[in-house]
Amino acid sequence: MTRQKILITGASSGLGAGMARAFAAKGRDLALCARRVDRLDELKAELLERHPGIKVAVAALDVDDHEQVPKVFAELADELGGIDRVIVNAGIGKGYHLGGGKLWANKATINTNLVSALVQIETALEMFKKAGSGHLVLISSVLGNKGVPGVKAAYAASKAGVSSLGESLRAEYAKGPIRVTVIEPGYIESEMTAKSATTMLMVDNETGVKAIVDAIEREKGRAVVPRWPWAPLVQVMRVMPPRMTKRFA
Ligand SMILES: NC(=O)c1ccc[n+]([C@@H]2O[C@H](COP(=O)([O-])OP(=O)(O)OC[C@H]3O[C@@H](n4cnc5c(N)ncnc54)[C@H](OP(=O)(O)O)[C@@H]3O)[C@@H](O)[C@H]2O)c1
Repeated sequence: MTRQKILITGASSGLGAGMARAFAAKGRDLALCARRVDRLDELKAELLERHPGIKVAVAALDVDDHEQVPKVFAELADELGGIDRVIVNAGIGKGYHLGGGKLWANKATINTNLVSALVQIETALEMFKKAGSGHLVLISSVLGNKGVPGVKAAYAASKAGVSSLGESLRAEYAKGPIRVTVIEPGYIESEMTAKSATTMLMVDNETGVKAIVDAIEREKGRAVVPRWPWAPLVQVMRVMPPRMTKRFA
């Protein structure tokens, strides 16, 4: 099934902008949102120049403004004439070692990555239930599989929460009509990873996005991407003793 009308949150940079470019190249219509609307306008102009046949709607949205999420999703759906797939992608990587006195940074990450993801999930499901179908995609992380020491502890917890919500939804909608996919990326170049100390096994944006988009199109329940080396590595991470996880942090 071709999902023609795709909404992506956090589309102003990194994986979100990369996915927008990849889906535009496949001829899909796009609803793009983020806080930096100037970036979205630039991206829209670029996509329409390259692919004049598609529709692109953009909107300013801070996903932490929970009342705005259903309003903006509804406006974007009106503009495109419906939404077939929602990609819950907006996220941040702030954080500090637990007990280090920067609760605000850890709270911000759990709020944006998990609580605001929940708001986007509820909003998308309501839209899909009314429409009778839809594909919900949650961008989690390989770190959702393992707690890590240091600055990424809250981030890992937020992504474990996202993966768990996705797993619950896959059980809830095992027989359809809504499909749910949890994507667990390894390290891929983006604004977020440019600020991070971890460069282990990092791939460039285009390679990483291609792996993500291929997995989304297959609509499997869960995909670790890029598959090599991350799929086997995640199996190892899951059984690794906590003291050995420092290199992922
Ligand atoms: N890159 C990786 O290696 C990697 C690995 C695993 C998972 N991920 C996940 O992939 C997703 C995208 O991250 P990225 O790596 O592409 O980082 P990025 O380049 O920093 O992009 C993050 C995007 O999220 C948006 N965003 C952040 N806070 C927001 C808010 N409150 N409201 C609306 N939009 C918000 C940003 O847009 P504005 O600032 O314009 O709002 C931006 O478009 C995140 O969920 C991240 O956790 C990334």
